[in-house]
This record gives sequence, structure tokens and C-alpha cells, in this order.
Amino acid sequence: MPTILFHSPQSDKAWPVELQKALSDHRIATDIDAVDPADVVAAVVWNPPHGRLRGFPNLRLIQVLGAGVDRLLREDSLPDGVPIARLVDPGLTQRMSEYVLMHCLALHRRMPEIQRAHDERQWRYLHPRPPAESSVGILGLGVLGLAAAQALISIGFNVVGWSRSRKSGLAFASFAGESELEEFKRRADILVLLLPLTPLTADFVDARFLATVKHDAALINVGRGALVVEDDLIAALDSGRLRHAVLDVFRTEPLPTEHRFWRHPAITVTPHNSSATNPATAVAQVVDNLRRALTGQRPSNLVDRTIGY
Ligand code: GLV
Repeated sequence: MPTILFHSPQSDKAWPVELQKALSDHRIATDIDAVDPADVVAAVVWNPPHGRLRGFPNLRLIQVLGAGVDRLLREDSLPDGVPIARLVDPGLTQRMSEYVLMHCLALHRRMPEIQRAHDERQWRYLHPRPPAESSVGILGLGVLGLAAAQALISIGFNVVGWSRSRKSGLAFASFAGESELEEFKRRADILVLLLPLTPLTADFVDARFLATVKHDAALINVGRGALVVEDDLIAALDSGRLRHAVLDVFRTEPLPTEHRFWRHPAITVTPHNSSATNPATAVAQVVDNLRRALTGQRPSNLVDRTIGY
């Protein structure tokens, strides 16, 4: 029977069950070692074991169970010519918007300072200011960036956006490319990193980038750890140019217990849980994409391997 390989050991166990219900004409296999390679027509994966996807000669789609495909594309042994699709999950998008909104509000209302005062039992009155007095700069205007922008605008934040290529028809000011990055940075009090990790965006936030952010700006990284040069971030926090960083993603995950980020007073660490793929909202889309690929139609949300997202 044609087989769809499901390999994502950390995912909700409902995934293979739901896929099997929806695709009764296929076998959903969860053990990569127990399938006949010739039977495998599609793979639904998150971090598949190195080199293994090349072993399936009849693969017609690699469906990634997440928004970011950087880790998969780093594999030097991906099968050539097999389409790769990433997930655009409404639940994942919504959770991400909530996380960005929650931390923008906390930064705007100076919660890190209030927490520090709390720790010292100090009554530090900070006057509450309207969100319109803070500009949130979103780097990366894909599905997640645009949804976060919408959520921020709906409660009154000023939003500015930046992306590599120009986006039109947006309800907020946006900037594009290297040449407009400085102008974008001049406007943003809180920077939100939602860029895909590609060879062009690795180490994007380095000393040069941080040297011209607004004085007292804050940073939220919900993209990938490797977008940020760790030493340069610490230096910007220590010098006071950046007032706080909220980090959900790291070069090494889980973040090692001895890592400096854990102890830095101006860093909030969260365990890569800003958002996640959820079968309740994503199964239908994966099923639809599998059906498309298996009936010769073009799958949705295809990844361009040359640009890396
Ligand atoms: C999570 O990091 C994702 O890319 O979906």
C-alpha cells in the first residue's frame, strides 16, 4: 500500500491518527526503519534523521510540520527535485501573534523594570502610557509577521515593518532591503525578529546592526537563534543601548544550563514555546497538500530551496 511516512517524535500523538483517518487509502507509518522505501510516496516530518529522506525513490512531497525549514534545508543529502512544503497553520499563527503581543505589551509597560523593583521590594511607579507611544518594528513580513502586525495595530501600537523584498498594500509603513534598514531601525522602539533563517539572514543582528537601533530599544527574537550574534547582543544590553531582550529561540536548544542568557538581568528566556503546530488546526491543510501532491497537483506553501524559505 502507498505509504506516508510521519516522522516527528515530539509532536502530538494525534497527528498520525488523524492523518490515517483522513487518508484511508494510504498507510501512515511512524517507524522510519520499518517501511519499505519503495512504498513511501510522501513524508511528513520535523527534523528527520540525517540523510534518510534520500532513501525513498518514490517520494512526491516532503511536508514540514512547522513554519521554519532552515534545519531541513541544511541537510546536504535532501533528495533533489522533491517539492518541500512548509506549514501555514492558523493555530500556530494565532499563538505567535499572542506571544508577540504579550511581550510587546510587557516591554511597553516596562515590566522588566517593575519586576526588578519587585525583587528589591521597591514601589516603582511608572506611569502607564498608551501603546501608540511605542513603535514596534517587525522584521520579516511573512504570514507570521503580518498577523502579529495586525494584532499589535488592533490594540493601538504603531507598527513599522521591514522585509528583504518590498511588500505592497500593507496597512502600516514598511521598508525593504538593505538600503532602508537604517530608516526602519530609527523608527522602532521594540524590534521583533520573525525572519526566516537563510544564508542571507544568519547573524543578521550583530554589532553593526545593534549600533544604530534606537537608544533604549528592546528586542524580541521568535525567528531562529542564529539570526543573532550572542556576544554582540550581550554587549548591547550591557552598554544600555538595548534595554531588554526576549528570546524564545537559541543556537543550541534546549539552552544549556550554564549559558549566560539565563542569568542576564536584561534577558527573558522562554523555551521555544512562542508557538507550535497543532493538529486541530493543521491536519486539514496537511491532508490537502498530500492529496494535491499525490494526484499531480501543485502543493501549497512550497519552499524555494534557492532562497531558503
Ligand atoms: C517552529 O519553530 C517552526 O518553525 O514552526
